[in-house]
Amino acid sequence: MRISELSDDDRVWVKERTELLFGGDFVVSGDEVHDPHKLAGFIATEGNERVGLVTYHLKDENCELVTIDSLCQFMGIGTLLLEKVEEVALKAGCTKIWAITTNDNLDAHRFFQKRGFTICRVRLGGMTKIRLLKPNVPKIGDYGIPIRDEIEFEKPLDLSY
Ligand SMILES: CC(C)(COP(=O)(O)OP(=O)(O)OC[C@H]1O[C@@H](n2cnc3c(N)ncnc32)[C@H](O)[C@@H]1OP(=O)(O)O)[C@@H](O)C(=O)NCCC(=O)NCCS
Repeated sequence: MRISELSDDDRVWVKERTELLFGGDFVVSGDEVHDPHKLAGFIATEGNERVGLVTYHLKDENCELVTIDSLCQFMGIGTLLLEKVEEVALKAGCTKIWAITTNDNLDAHRFFQKRGFTICRVRLGGMTKIRLLKPNVPKIGDYGIPIRDEIEFEKPLDLSY
């Protein structure tokens, strides 16, 4: 598998994946709105096929993992992409990496917690506000769980896990 920086050619695909996964081509995180297809990121490829992508945003000493998307789960793609972003963030002097997901996304909860992240904030009912901007976000998510809350995870980057 190859991990490379997002190229301009990849960005249309990133936009399509964002629409598919997040109910719109933008992502709302707290008070900020991100267009993942305009952010820095990495892409995982197997042969000629794109099998994963990650986008991130550096601000002060913090690195936000804006989207992480593995097209073939449980094969190590997400881990490789996360490690790549952590490497960049550390080099840039960041002391924290953080990400937001929803209450139904148990695969992401597992993924983040087993890689050193902890829950740092929960916005109960936060998805009601998000749906005002993104009416296409489904009511029901992974494993048939109603999508209601935003769960924020963070991990200090100056400690090794
Ligand atoms: C969260 C997400 C990115 C994880 O990606 P992933 O590619 O499945 O992650 P990995 O394969 O690296 O790790 C997942 C598990 O698979 C296991 N795994 C890795 N290689 C494996 C293999 N060859 N065979 C079996 N299991 C394997 C890992 O050990 C890991 O298990 P653990 O968490 O118990 O340690 C993925 O579920 C996803 O894309 N979800 C949809 C998008 C999303 O919700 N993103 C998060 C919010 S932005």
